[in-house]
Amino acid sequence: MNPYQYRAPPVGIELVPRPLKMRLTVRSLSGNSGSHGRHGTLSQLLGVSTGIFLGFILTAAIRHLMLKPHMCLSLRNVPIYDDKNDAYRIIGFDISKDTHNSAKNLLFVGVMTADKYLDTRAKAVYETWGKQLPGKIAFFSSETSTTNVDIPLIRLRGVDDSYPPQKKSFMMIKYMAEHFADHFEFFMRADDDIYVRPDKLELFLRSVNSTKAHFIGQAGKGNQEEFGHLSLKMDENFCMGGPGVIMSRSTLLQVAPHVRDCLKNLWSTHEDVEVGRCVRKYAKVPCTWSYEMQSILYHNSSGTEAFTGPLKQREVHRAITLHPIKNHTHLYRLHSYIQGLNIRSSEAELVHFVRELTKTSEEAGLPVPHLDNPSSGIYLNHLGTDVTLQKWVADSEEEVLYWDFVSKAAFQPGSANPRHKPTSGMTEGLADVIRDVMEIINRVSKERGRVIDFKEVLYGYIRWHPTLALEYILDMLLLYKKYRGKKMTVPVRRHAYLQIPFGPLYIREYESAGIDETLESPSGIHELVEVVVKGSINDLSKLHYQIPSAAFPRTQMKPKKIHFILPLAGRFKTFQRFMDDFQRVCLEGEENVRLVVVSFRPSPGEDDTTEDVEALISSLQLDYPHTVMTVLQANTTFARALALELGTGQCQDNDLMFFIDVDMTFTSSTLDRIRLHTIKGYQIYYPIVFSEFDPKFARKGDSEDNYDHSMINEEVGYWRTFGYGIVAMYKSELQVAGGLDTSILGWGGEDVDLFEKVLKSGIRIFRSADPGLVHVFHRVDCDRNLESSQYQMCQGTRYSTYGASQSLVKTILKNPEILAYKRANP
Ligand SMILES: *[C@@H]1O[C@H](CO)[C@@H](O)[C@H](O)[C@H]1NC(C)=O
Ligand SMILES: *[C@@H]1O[C@H](CO)[C@@H](O)[C@H](O)[C@H]1NC(C)=O
Ligand SMILES: *[C@@H]1O[C@H](CO)[C@@H](O)[C@H](O)[C@H]1NC(C)=O
Ligand SMILES: *[C@@H]1O[C@H](CO)[C@@H](O)[C@H](O)[C@H]1NC(C)=O
Repeated sequence: MNPYQYRAPPVGIELVPRPLKMRLTVRSLSGNSGSHGRHGTLSQLLGVSTGIFLGFILTAAIRHLMLKPHMCLSLRNVPIYDDKNDAYRIIGFDISKDTHNSAKNLLFVGVMTADKYLDTRAKAVYETWGKQLPGKIAFFSSETSTTNVDIPLIRLRGVDDSYPPQKKSFMMIKYMAEHFADHFEFFMRADDDIYVRPDKLELFLRSVNSTKAHFIGQAGKGNQEEFGHLSLKMDENFCMGGPGVIMSRSTLLQVAPHVRDCLKNLWSTHEDVEVGRCVRKYAKVPCTWSYEMQSILYHNSSGTEAFTGPLKQREVHRAITLHPIKNHTHLYRLHSYIQGLNIRSSEAELVHFVRELTKTSEEAGLPVPHLDNPSSGIYLNHLGTDVTLQKWVADSEEEVLYWDFVSKAAFQPGSANPRHKPTSGMTEGLADVIRDVMEIINRVSKERGRVIDFKEVLYGYIRWHPTLALEYILDMLLLYKKYRGKKMTVPVRRHAYLQIPFGPLYIREYESAGIDETLESPSGIHELVEVVVKGSINDLSKLHYQIPSAAFPRTQMKPKKIHFILPLAGRFKTFQRFMDDFQRVCLEGEENVRLVVVSFRPSPGEDDTTEDVEALISSLQLDYPHTVMTVLQANTTFARALALELGTGQCQDNDLMFFIDVDMTFTSSTLDRIRLHTIKGYQIYYPIVFSEFDPKFARKGDSEDNYDHSMINEEVGYWRTFGYGIVAMYKSELQVAGGLDTSILGWGGEDVDLFEKVLKSGIRIFRSADPGLVHVFHRVDCDRNLESSQYQMCQGTRYSTYGASQSLVKTILKNPEILAYKRANP
């Protein structure tokens, strides 16, 4: 082993997949800050037990299979029975199951709803968390409720949908006690605008003794105005209804016989306050006085706005129930977000198992079991490697991975911009990491009588290995607050070494029939494969990936026709060069294309060559009658936007258009890429073109007019990342985006305008370097009459095409008279 090999810091912390071990170096800022280089004033080794999520996912899945099809009495005019068997049938209950022989008899959830919400909120609840419960669910509504939606609906006799729903609430308690008390341990009263995480709720309830009287909820005493008007004594409370209230069986049985009494003695108009009063009186228990309940049963006070924004929040991750979700569409959204979290937890669990297995096998001197199964695309063995920043060992210079440095700004050696604002991806990734680190650090807060708050990241390093992991080194400023024993608050710095391994790659294949409606297959693309890349911490990112058309014989399907649209004003010599390319690639290559040249009057002072253009095209047309070539004459001063507009006027909605300029050269591989990346109704291709420098500087020795345009390196040109003029799209997308702004005259501006419109329209953009598209150098003379922003843009382009900085520097060094001239003429 190379003795100079990089040694990783002592131990790493590792993030989701949940950390197995972490050691943090802590240094007190207020203490000996002089010993900056010496770590380890205090180091902790935490064994963090990981979640039980996988178990739940599995049992949930098995249960799902075992779920009996339930029948539902929800159709119009079906009589209401109070018969127990009907109640069982409605909720799909198997009478032979009880709390001793089934894990699905833990909880019964009664959702209070109303006729007008059956088709929306109730349906959404039943289709999301309602089906994952360790128990059963039913929706309680007015006697006259009707719906065609398939939900377990119980219409309470003598109850209407009036507000406040006191009668509904009490009658639901009575119904639950009379019909289901023997079969479940806990009974939850829920609103129809709540989201419940059944796995977490199960974990919580299994730690509570249901034979004791419990009244679990978020304790309230009324808000400021109500305080004193609810007829509550100083030490009395109630469980707030919104985020969910849970009674143990014991509580339910003690309260149910008295609901009629309670209904007769209402002291307020608040349903939850009155239920609380009734429970206190007859079951002799208050609502749980626990501060924690606020985060476990989470209520957000933003009303209709709650849970409509970003969901990646500590509150959302922590809670067992979330309230209120007023718009049922957002319940599905929340559900899919939570499912994503669950998938990540179970993947983290998987990594944990693989690692344990690897470690114990090695310790026992046994071979590590083969977990990889290439034929089904499953690779797990690599997940078992050690948690260390030495996972990747470079063998040669090219393999060395660089760390990006991030503080207020980001410094990325691989980026064209040496110093820039951290990208939104970096910022979000960092926020994720920090949230998880803080969660880990504070998991043992209670035991240790301290809380640690996050203040800021002083700096961080980020490194990314495409197949192994994302790695972080963070220097964090934290606030250490000890509240037990000798109280103190000290700022501390902690270094965290983090590694986020990637999970396996999953590939799902779809038959092309399913996607044809939305995605027209442009050129022999027979299949669309969705590749789902799973990073363990970032959201699952989905990529639609098409098999390149080159993979299929051309004869199977004629490649999609590409409509070239070429604006032109004068510059006949350049046009001839363009047409040479067009002839070689498209005409002789028998490509399925069409050419529309939109020719304007040349700028003043240039020869009018419109006739030459027409003549050139006519003669080519004679030789190649199968390719349609058109010249449109516009008798106004040049405007690129107008030219494109006229050109697109020649196309239909279903046509694939390619906006190109006369300075470009292109290859047939570019045409393949256009067909590949331009997808109707879905995606536009914005290639980044390679822009040549002035060959006088960049290519000494080459003849100025005739040199090889396929050369791509940093001396002869650069990727024009700021240009958006060359683009391929279907005409329908141009219309969706809002079309071209024909009020923009001349060159420049219209491309940026269109690009911004496309961004706003939600159409996807595929932007990538296209090595076939080269912008041939020509001297730019910026017209003083241009509008000032266009003039600046033009000057910018002009200066950036002189040559590579290196060549310019060399030239200046070799020719000191340039500097001397500049000094004399500042
Ligand atoms: C639950 O509570 C009951 C009644 O207080 C008690 O008899 C029983 O032992 C408790 N069960 C457990 C598992 O603690
Ligand atoms: C909860 O409410 C606050 C403000 O009332 C808001 O900023 C936050 O985004 C809300 N959280 C969620 C998850 O909607
Ligand atoms: C509910 O949310 C969806 C998606 O944001 C929206 O389209 C719909 O109009 C909303 N419904 C109501 C009643 O606000
Ligand atoms: C083009 O416009 C100019 C000036 O507006 C006019 O003199 C000329 O006749 C026009 N040519 C054609 C072909 O319409």
